[in-house]
Amino acid sequence: MQKNLFIGVMSGTSSDGLDIALCKITPQNFTILNSISKKYSSRIKQDILKLNQSAFDDLESSQAMGYRISKICIPLINQLINQNKLKSTDIQAIGFHGPTIRHQPNKNFSIQIGNEFILADKTNIPVVHDFRNMDIANGGQGAPLIPLFHKYLLNLKGIKKGIFLNLGGFANLTIIDQQSVTGFDTGPGNIFLDLWIKKCLNKNYDQKGVWAKSGKIIPSLLQKMLADPFFRKKTPKSTGRDYFNEQWLQKFNLKNFNENDVQRTLLELTVCSIQRHLKKLIHLENLFICGGGAFNTFLIEKLAQHNQLKIKTTENLSIDPQLIEACGFAWLAQQRVSMKRLNYQKITGSRKNNLLGVIVHP
Ligand SMILES: Nc1ncnc2c1ncn2[C@@H]1O[C@H](COP(=O)(O)OP(=O)(O)O)[C@@H](O)[C@H]1O
Ligand SMILES: [Mg+2]
Repeated sequence: MQKNLFIGVMSGTSSDGLDIALCKITPQNFTILNSISKKYSSRIKQDILKLNQSAFDDLESSQAMGYRISKICIPLINQLINQNKLKSTDIQAIGFHGPTIRHQPNKNFSIQIGNEFILADKTNIPVVHDFRNMDIANGGQGAPLIPLFHKYLLNLKGIKKGIFLNLGGFANLTIIDQQSVTGFDTGPGNIFLDLWIKKCLNKNYDQKGVWAKSGKIIPSLLQKMLADPFFRKKTPKSTGRDYFNEQWLQKFNLKNFNENDVQRTLLELTVCSIQRHLKKLIHLENLFICGGGAFNTFLIEKLAQHNQLKIKTTENLSIDPQLIEACGFAWLAQQRVSMKRLNYQKITGSRKNNLLGVIVHP
């Protein structure tokens, strides 16, 4: 059996698809041996998004969707293993993070769907899942969980300080200064850009932010949006589609404005809600951007304006920005099987160090 091989599977809040990474993880090194990003069909994406809202058949449909997602993962995982001429028994564990359909730490739960039993059975690999609920049980937000992985990555490179900005459906910051790590959600990342372009132009996302670039900021609208109490809330804080969703957008009567001006304003909402934190962090020098938003050229250009941080993507740390979270859940699986109690106290607000994740054996 080979050692230190783990697979991370991530389906984020954008519901754009699955990112899967086969990684070799040691205390001295992190390498991606193979990976695959598989877009969901528009039908599956739509069905996942529907599960974010209550319906009479929630229970059954979320289980059915979890099964469908696991069934999509199985051949992809087997393909990664075969391409690298490995056997299932070479892989120590899969860290599996299915789509979040509810994130309500204040009500003591977060729900990620997926059928971990079928995944373990059909891949013949132990699966670690449900990473968030132990943190929540200890008074934490259950999110974000990737900051400790970011710190591990910087440590490997001997870098003592820096910031990570993950631009997924939601945006979160990791702030690393010597040995201290903090992290929190700043608010919407791509979610509203995706929602609005879908509604107006029936596109899944705003390629490179070109449509947003064609519009003008609507200052009064931006101000109203930024007045949402989430942006002023003290950390630790996390959010999700439970809060920032289509209903949230509907409060602002967007029909009264030019569609591309709204897109520009929504992009500025993401920029401003991040920028207000970055202003205080310029002494950390490096900002590593990851998540699909790293490919939104216009968004990155706007973040770079008035910003003295050196902005790079995680490509500079030899990790594809799209794969960071999948790699992070491979690392979290490794930590779990090694019985490491992780300290998220300054990130999620958890009261103590915890073992995160539940292990299912084939
Ligand atoms: N070329 C691109 N131009 C603009 N936006 C992009 C591009 N590629 C990806 N994105 C954005 O990134 C999102 C997916 O990012 P991802 O990190 O997978 O988020 P999540 O973790 O929420 O699934 C897409 O929905 C889209 O908004
Ligand atoms: Mg994604």
